[in-house]
Amino acid sequence: MKKIISVVGARPNFMKVAPIHRAFQQYSSSVEHLIVHTGQHYDAAMSDAFFQDLDMPQPAVFLGIGSGSHAVQTAKVMVEFEKVCEDIKPDFVIVVGDVNSTVGCSLVSVKMGIPTAHVEAGLRSFDRTMPEEINRIATDSICDYWFVTEQSGLDELQKQGAPDNKVFFVGNTMIDSLHYALPRAKQSAFMKELGLKEKGYALITMHRPSNVDEPEQLKNLLLMLAELTDKRDIVFPVHPRTRKNISAFGLSEIIENHPRLKLIDPQGYINFLSLMMNADFVMTDSGGIQEETTALGIPCLTIRTTTERPITTILGTNILIQPEPNAIRQALSDIIHLPRKQGQIPPLWDGNTADRIAKIIVGIISK
Ligand code: UD1
Repeated sequence: MKKIISVVGARPNFMKVAPIHRAFQQYSSSVEHLIVHTGQHYDAAMSDAFFQDLDMPQPAVFLGIGSGSHAVQTAKVMVEFEKVCEDIKPDFVIVVGDVNSTVGCSLVSVKMGIPTAHVEAGLRSFDRTMPEEINRIATDSICDYWFVTEQSGLDELQKQGAPDNKVFFVGNTMIDSLHYALPRAKQSAFMKELGLKEKGYALITMHRPSNVDEPEQLKNLLLMLAELTDKRDIVFPVHPRTRKNISAFGLSEIIENHPRLKLIDPQGYINFLSLMMNADFVMTDSGGIQEETTALGIPCLTIRTTTERPITTILGTNILIQPEPNAIRQALSDIIHLPRKQGQIPPLWDGNTADRIAKIIVGIISK
């Protein structure tokens, strides 16, 4: 029996690994697929809820790393994951995305000589102030196999000199999860419970340090959302980092004074998906939400200087908005008053990506 470990750590990893776990069940007579959870995210709302909504089994190992500086978090992940690899002796390790757990675990497994694949490889924002960009560059430069979601990833890996026969354009496992959960999201009563009407509200998420760690930037964003409540209801599931900063920077009053600006706790996958699919538009700084809105055809304003997912702006419904008050105000006015950008689904974002990945990996480890 061959053993494969997939690593999850933070919220955006869960929906990428859930379909991979399911896909490996087709090979259960020869392959044991184990999920290792580093515990980078640990709140029930940031972690457990996703295991339930995505029908993932409990992780085989939970490392309980928790929060810390980048160095502390990554170092703890490495120390603990090395023990796991010594113990389980996996034949193959899969890391996904761009979080600290991704880089920490790949550094460990590659150095132990365990073939390691990066799922969602080759993406680049070319903004080295983003911790995720450093994680992407580091992970891609050491992994043995690369699974790619979009053309820009293929181009980047080719520039980097990755051998063609180890780079696989397979599509996007996050969209597999979206297809999997959509029927349940359609049944969800969550939007109505919040008193929202279909297409009558904007959905907001903001958690990047560049948007929420600067008091002035966060204040401006909240003030603009407050202004927008003249036109739309707003629902804003708030990441713990953002929640802490709103309170620490003394900005809670803006929210208290605007009842149509609804701040709610971070949501599980099904509730969040139901909010996204019924929204008039989405404003975000997330990576994954740019892709999910493109797959759903929902207009998305991404408040960032760059995106590592350019296919969502080239083919999809995503528009990149510079994180400055005038640009954001203009974009909000345009999206309310002007015709919307129409999008297309990017190649291979068809819900079958994890099957392709599992087949390729089983082929590799069977040789
Ligand atoms: C991490 C990822 C980011 C991803 C985001 C999604 C890195 C470098 N960043 O950022 O790419 O988009 O997850 O959510 O890996 N906290 C809690 N409870 C939790 C988790 C975090 O309260 O369950 C708080 C802690 O105060 C922590 C802070 O949020 O210090 C930030 O968490 P951390 O995991 O360091 O990074 P994220 O901002 O969540």
